[in-house]
Amino acid sequence: MTITELAPAVGRDRALSPRTYAMTRPSHFEVTYRINPWMNPSVEVDTALALRQWNVLRETYIQLGHSVSEVPALPGLPDMVYAANGGLVVGGIAIAAAFRHPQRQPEGAAYAAWLDSAGLGPVHTVSGINEGEGDFLVVGDRILAGTGFRTDRDTHRQVAAITGLPVVSLELVDPRYYHLDTALGVLDEETITYYPDAFSPDARRILADLYPTAVLANDADAAVLGLNLVSDGLNVVMTDAAPHLASLLAAAGFNPIGVDLSELLKGGGGVKCCTLELRPGVTS
Ligand code: ARG
Repeated sequence: MTITELAPAVGRDRALSPRTYAMTRPSHFEVTYRINPWMNPSVEVDTALALRQWNVLRETYIQLGHSVSEVPALPGLPDMVYAANGGLVVGGIAIAAAFRHPQRQPEGAAYAAWLDSAGLGPVHTVSGINEGEGDFLVVGDRILAGTGFRTDRDTHRQVAAITGLPVVSLELVDPRYYHLDTALGVLDEETITYYPDAFSPDARRILADLYPTAVLANDADAAVLGLNLVSDGLNVVMTDAAPHLASLLAAAGFNPIGVDLSELLKGGGGVKCCTLELRPGVTS
């Protein structure tokens, strides 16, 4: 693991806030079906290496002072390692996922049961397909929501009603970037980074209006899932294969920390995909 030196934050005071994450160990990880362009069942997967790389990611969060809860991995659900898709938890309210592809559908109930057992129940449901934090990203008091490949647009409205937060719908247009979290990363409560070409013209206009100072990633950054990152407001845990994006983030006052998740990339996922954030409610 490389923890880079703190970049000089010129004129910006970046600060971390401690987070609680849920992660699922890739004990049963393999690529046996293809539900996104990254997956190729004829390419061999080294599950032992996937486990080591995942452990480094988990340890990185712990060393940064965050807590990590582990969701038990179930046999026969190789994509369960991508915990971000397992639900959405904001303000202590949990919403269950409902997956588009039959291969992943049993994960919905498994994650909902785990969220309930973690004290986050009652777990809400919405009607229609929604793939949790794969397509719902919380930015401060607003939720950005992807649609086009996985999550039904109609679920966006339902998530707004349940959480009481405004939800902004964004259409994805490139099959390589099938979840919002493959094309857009949340850096802090008002800062995002994204790859414009992954979005429809309307979505690009909305993003440019809402986030005029966003960090814009290039083709090469996106093509290694560089945007699939996890930030605590200061430290940005991301692939070590996106040096251009890392340098832009450092120049913006963040501290990029590179990790190698090459095995998990074979399933079409990266750092953020492996990480479900559990956002607490306000306690009185
Ligand atoms: N193979 C998984 C799928 O296609 C990868 C999910 C990646 N997760 C994410 N949050 N983007 O569903």
